[in-house]
Amino acid sequence: MSITISVPRETRSGEQRVALVPEIVKKLIALGAAVQVQSGAGELAGYSDGDYSAAGASICSEADLMRSATIVLTVNPPDHQLIEHLPEHAVLIGYLNPWSDTERFRALQHKHISAFSMEMVPRISRAQAMDALSSQASIAGYKVVLMAASLSGKFFPMLTTAAGTVRPSKVLIIGAGVAGLQAIATARRLGAIVEAYDVRAAVKEQVESLGAKFVDINIKAEGSGGYARELTADEKQLQQDILARHVAASDVVICTAAIPGRPSPRIITKAMVEAMKGGSVIVDLAAEGGGNCELTQAGQNIVHQRVTIAGPLNVPGTVPNHASELYAKNLLNMLGLMIKDSAIHIDLEDQIIKDSLITHAGDIVNAAVRDRLQNAGA
Ligand code: NAI
Repeated sequence: MSITISVPRETRSGEQRVALVPEIVKKLIALGAAVQVQSGAGELAGYSDGDYSAAGASICSEADLMRSATIVLTVNPPDHQLIEHLPEHAVLIGYLNPWSDTERFRALQHKHISAFSMEMVPRISRAQAMDALSSQASIAGYKVVLMAASLSGKFFPMLTTAAGTVRPSKVLIIGAGVAGLQAIATARRLGAIVEAYDVRAAVKEQVESLGAKFVDINIKAEGSGGYARELTADEKQLQQDILARHVAASDVVICTAAIPGRPSPRIITKAMVEAMKGGSVIVDLAAEGGGNCELTQAGQNIVHQRVTIAGPLNVPGTVPNHASELYAKNLLNMLGLMIKDSAIHIDLEDQIIKDSLITHAGDIVNAAVRDRLQNAGA
């Protein structure tokens, strides 16, 4: 059977990214696939229908897009309408958010969709080129610093002027994973004095190699798969006692701490915010999962006792051109695992396929999603 890859326009409110960019369309066509793009799908990321046509894609209306699709590529989880229009037995690849609203997977199961969740691609060396969590987190880490700089009433760099010298801003980054490390590098490039903190002791060296100081609290909370585990109550208290001093001394705090599939750890209390200097800024990249700061309101900027607290959502979506380009490259590499001789082969023995596949051949093949659905039905 020939391969037709379809790319719908994203429907999530405010989303500007698109799953494929014209450069990658050409590469997929070279692999033997036909590519169809919904009219206007790349518009907000800077790609016109003409750019996609020139790369060899056909431009379709929403109604025609799904008719002959064998593979559907999305950025965000499919909405009910998209699921309804997916042809039976199609392959769906995108962020699927397997941790919530799991009922959607029943519909995908009943349509015999092979649904791949980009969030579940394992963090192993061979999968690095497919790791959308990393590509998008790195973009978020860069942009969050620019957001903080524009909310702050202070310069980041030291500035010597005829009127006197301005001291550089002190920036504290909480969570030094992919986003946090990029935030450190960006804040350093802007000339700030940067400190960073993470519960995984292994990142100390990475933080220091980027020119930041590591705040060492002597908690070692390495979990599985390179991620952090949740802290005990005693560890949380120790963390707060020490971090409170660093938060109070900072002009800008950037929060990026997360534990996969769990609410964001609460690290900054209301009292810690109240001890900050007037005009300080907190940008909480963890807002999507509830926030690292107790006062964060997802999707809003608030001011509490002269401290601005921003809880931006979908930060990678605000850098849509490069975010789409990197995401499309992640998808191309993922598709490289399953397109062989112009046909789709899903090798269930391959760890990357096995870990990221949620529904396949009429089954829910991901154990965690299956358990969640069973518990919800119980
Ligand atoms: P993430 O987005 O889940 O978490 C961000 C950071 O928050 C992590 O560094 C985590 O340790 C930290 N954190 C969690 N709870 C915290 C707390 N209470 N206080 C302070 N910090 C806390 O993680 P991300 O950035 O997606 O990746 C984390 C790690 O996964 C990487 O640093 C790396 O070790 C590993 N990884 C491996 C890859 C590979 O080998 N292919 C690719 C990407 C990541």
